Amino acid sequence: MSQRIVVTGKIPNAGLEVLKSAGFIPDAWGQDAAMSRDELLKKVHRADILITLLTEKVDAELLDAAGAQLKAVCNVAVGYNNIDVAACKSKNVIVTNTPGVLTDATADIALSLILMVTRRLGEGERVIRSGKSWQWGMHYMLGTGITGRTLGVIGMGAIGIATARRAKACGMSIIYFSRSKIDAVVASELQAKSVSLDELLSTSDVVSIHCPSNEATHHLIGESQLAKMKSTAFLINTARGPIVDEQALVDALRSKKIAGAGLDVFEFEPKVNPGLVDRDDVVLIPHLGSATTETRDAMATLAAKNAIAIASNLKPLTPVG
Ligand code: GLV
Repeated sequence: MSQRIVVTGKIPNAGLEVLKSAGFIPDAWGQDAAMSRDELLKKVHRADILITLLTEKVDAELLDAAGAQLKAVCNVAVGYNNIDVAACKSKNVIVTNTPGVLTDATADIALSLILMVTRRLGEGERVIRSGKSWQWGMHYMLGTGITGRTLGVIGMGAIGIATARRAKACGMSIIYFSRSKIDAVVASELQAKSVSLDELLSTSDVVSIHCPSNEATHHLIGESQLAKMKSTAFLINTARGPIVDEQALVDALRSKKIAGAGLDVFEFEPKVNPGLVDRDDVVLIPHLGSATTETRDAMATLAAKNAIAIASNLKPLTPVG
């Protein structure tokens, strides 16, 4: 019997074409606006495989709405904090994600945020666009150089490493805090030193977050961690919002405990803490880490290939866990 593959959000055609060429006719949501929760619960009914976006909460309720025949949830994202993996496991539902294909795009965004916030680029752009008068000046809008400074990477997986590589090319030295030690060849290429979180926070000039979001990393960076950072240091987050206690970050910025922040993700996305919005020492962008046409095509294609493998009773390419 043919398998019912439900795509719960609008994905690039590249992914749909891969499904179609393998003989599947996906039931795909084609509108830009996301489905309501009620529509989603109806749509997943009797699905064999779900292809989901990071904005969809896959929990016990949704798994029940799909039914006992559900085999897999294939997320079109590397992060999968939208999915209750334990609930999936208890129902023998396989979970897959899309690692690798978005590493460079996300590291590019991390480096962009580092440069934007240290060199005050958002602020400078706002001056020009506002029509305010300005004049080149020896002391006008001075930023902080990154050459010779230290980047502290929290979570030295593929994206953390790719960010470190870019920062090293800009003359930064690299320290990192990670669950597991990195490959010796990579460590020596980057001359990267593994340190405790406390040491990383107290010695880095830029702290960049690249770890997964889960119970263990929820508010990993809160009031006491921000208090350990140098008052001249910057915090960058391109991973997931809930890793940072956003109110504690606002308080740390207000009291000048740190020098600034560059954020691509937010604790209560798409809401942004109003305390961040009117600050010139923060750069805020709307979750653009993987947002290039090529990367989104590759993510959709990988999710589709995972779905096809599972529908064909083969091993998925990138299972979670
Ligand atoms: C994007 O944020 C992803 O996790 O793929």
